[in-house]
Amino acid sequence: MEKLIIKGPTPLKGEVSISGAKNAAVAILPAALLINGECKIENLPNISDVKLYCEILEKLGAKITWNTNNEITINTQNINCDADIIEITRKFRASYYLLGSLLGRCKKATVGVPGGCKLGARPIDLHIKGFEALGATTNVSQGNIYASAKKMKGTSIYLDFASVGATINIMLASVLAEGTTVIDNAAKEPHIVDVANFLNTMGADIRGAGTDMIKIHGVKELHGGSAYSVVPDQIEAGTFMLAAVASRGDIIIKNCIPEHLEPLTAKVVEIGAHVEENGDEVHVWCNKRPGKTVIKTSPYPGFPTDLQPQMGVVLATAEGTSIINEGIWESRFQYTAELNKMGANITDQGKSALFQGVPKLTGAPVCVSDLRAGAALIIAGVSAEGTTEVLNLEHIDRGYENIEEKFRKIGANIQRVAL
Ligand code: EPU
Repeated sequence: MEKLIIKGPTPLKGEVSISGAKNAAVAILPAALLINGECKIENLPNISDVKLYCEILEKLGAKITWNTNNEITINTQNINCDADIIEITRKFRASYYLLGSLLGRCKKATVGVPGGCKLGARPIDLHIKGFEALGATTNVSQGNIYASAKKMKGTSIYLDFASVGATINIMLASVLAEGTTVIDNAAKEPHIVDVANFLNTMGADIRGAGTDMIKIHGVKELHGGSAYSVVPDQIEAGTFMLAAVASRGDIIIKNCIPEHLEPLTAKVVEIGAHVEENGDEVHVWCNKRPGKTVIKTSPYPGFPTDLQPQMGVVLATAEGTSIINEGIWESRFQYTAELNKMGANITDQGKSALFQGVPKLTGAPVCVSDLRAGAALIIAGVSAEGTTEVLNLEHIDRGYENIEEKFRKIGANIQRVAL
């Protein structure tokens, strides 16, 4: 067990380089199971969710060579469709993608009901409805999900909600199906486009990813044989944008796609900070207390729920009273109790929270409830006066590569110590 000790306040200044996207990587790795051959995956973030996924793929028979800390060559020619992966799949939420990819590859899949961040109820009924529409039978019992099919056959599927996970999982299940699958009301997040680009590079025929209608023409085989580089992580980039604003700093964020950050950029500018885009860089600076705002999180291109806690830290010390309405998850305001320990004045009312801005935060011991709450508490610690201790780091390590090194490089006084 470890904790972070952060001494502040520090206006963060300098350059930070963004890693590959976690939420793309955890879908591209299981997507590799659909390939009958070898491929190279570059720009993989070096995080615990990626390492866990590689362990699962190896248990299934994949041969993985780590070329560098961020690049693998993976050969999925020989896959053991009967390998027991139940216990390991329980360890994280994104293991649900194995249902789609194994249904595609093996016509059967068994995974443990996924764990992950505690953000409220996290059903996968839309994934299951999609698999069943494609011809699979599913059954949940004793904490496991079983899915199997004689044949996967393309069809039209309308999603009641533009779910990221269901869109990707149905794409995975239909790439090798017979005929054409149409996903209507599909999610449009950049990592959905990235997974489709990966699969197309390997031989799939997917059109329309990034719009609300995706068409997947089934192919007989994915040949692989190519290299693919994971898209930069827009949530990590957004985290550093908000770190610049909260700490009244000046950061150049390198290796990102500014277009993916537009929903955040609009809000950051609205509250009085400065943003300049230049190719694959975004320069963000803020030299005064930001103003108040109202935010509602929604699917892309709305304001991302995965940047809501980091924005909450900014609004905790903004002038006036701000409101955040959480439109995706039931329970994503657990970090507000921790910020209140640091002197914030936030009232959490279920799916919305009222932020009465205070002039400054002060350091305190705080506990991380989930991945993005962890990033938010680091930003709070850097911006607050005095010492902040951040506990429960395993949530943060799931999704941010070298986070304290990246913060240290831009001036933060941050140490990781054993408990
Ligand atoms: N939902 C259903 N039924 C389903 C699927 C989803 O009711 O079958 C509901 C969920 O309960 C939730 C909403 O729909 O209220 C959105 O769920 P979605 O399926 O879009 O989310 P997800 O695929 O489970 C991914 C990211 C999350 C991110 C959300 C929203 C991955 C591995 N996870 O989750 O990332 O918050 O999309 O953008 O891609 C994070 O990175 O910190 C994180 C939690």
